[in-house]
Amino acid sequence: MELIELADSSLLEQVLDDTYGLWGDGLSRKAYGLWNLAQMKTRWGKENLARVGLVEGDRVMVSAKRYLFDAVIAGHPTRVLGIGAVFTPESRRGQGLAPRLVEAMIADGKARGCTVALLFSEIGAAYYTRLGFTAVPRQMVTIDVPHTRRGAPATMVRAADPLDFPEIAAVSMTYAMKASFALNRTPDLIEFGIMRRRLRAGLGPAGLRQVEIYVAEEGYRAAAFIVVSRGPEGVVLEDCGDRDPSGARIGALLEAYVERDPSQADRTLRAWLPDGLHPPQVRFSAPFDAPEIMMVRHLPTDASGPPLISPAPHPTWWPLDVF
Ligand SMILES: CC(C)(COP(=O)(O)OP(=O)(O)OC[C@H]1O[C@@H](n2cnc3c(N)ncnc32)[C@H](O)[C@@H]1OP(=O)(O)O)[C@@H](O)C(=O)NCCC(=O)NCCS
Repeated sequence: MELIELADSSLLEQVLDDTYGLWGDGLSRKAYGLWNLAQMKTRWGKENLARVGLVEGDRVMVSAKRYLFDAVIAGHPTRVLGIGAVFTPESRRGQGLAPRLVEAMIADGKARGCTVALLFSEIGAAYYTRLGFTAVPRQMVTIDVPHTRRGAPATMVRAADPLDFPEIAAVSMTYAMKASFALNRTPDLIEFGIMRRRLRAGLGPAGLRQVEIYVAEEGYRAAAFIVVSRGPEGVVLEDCGDRDPSGARIGALLEAYVERDPSQADRTLRAWLPDGLHPPQVRFSAPFDAPEIMMVRHLPTDASGPPLISPAPHPTWWPLDVF
């Protein structure tokens, strides 16, 4: 069995049929298919996202999503192999197919210059530990935006549009520069993350999910931004950034977000924030473990020397980039 990209529509449909029950996220089966296809057609997705699998005859034995990220680890540019949606149809489980697929993806990833494989486990850490992955602690906080009697702040706030993505990416990269391990967040990657969330909201039942993006302007440029999603999992600050290290404009954007419709009970958001970023206007809960377990496996190559992350203590990884 060889690793192949499942570009053929009948093979892809098999995978979508099989995985819909688990990852359909409230979409109809048709919308689930459209959502998957549309992600692969974004600028970033076209180059960096593929559904792969081990195929025998006309049957997909096991499949997964392959993401190829550009990243920076301890100052060194590298590539990261993202492995998502590993799935073996029920009748074929327990035969070691998923480990075979993961190993084949890793061999392929190494050939593409990846030095780290990374996944988010939904089934605990033990299974992937056996496959050589290590869990990387990743903590989130709950942010509470207190009610202000002043109402929405007097910051120039507006909804973002795609023309803002380069500025948003530039603001975001200021955090990546300081991190031991971070993605190289290009405008195309930001667009991919936002499109993926927006499409799921738009293709799903009315009112189930919503995604909003606001920017604070300074001289017609986005100087700060927030991306907030609302759905069955609650309200999540998916991404944010501020040219001002205090994060005061993020706080102002969050105040504007909650005040835009005071009847909404959206004052409490789950968030991940880089070290040292603490918008002064908001209150933080004690940190708690993120629901998805980030796991990494170093992929040594002859040239790469000792592991660069073993694991990195504080990876910079926004909820928007969780796959
Ligand atoms: C997890 C999965 C990919 C394993 O595929 P597989 O081809 O059967 O791989 P294996 O033969 O190595 O798997 C068998 C092992 O998986 C373990 N496993 C399966 N589901 C599990 C779960 N939800 N939690 C923990 N372990 C699980 C089994 O306990 C079994 O362990 P054993 O070897 O000690 O008996 C498959 O069960 C599956 O597709 N599950 C549904 C999708 C899913 O949850 N994917 C993972 C997303 S992170």
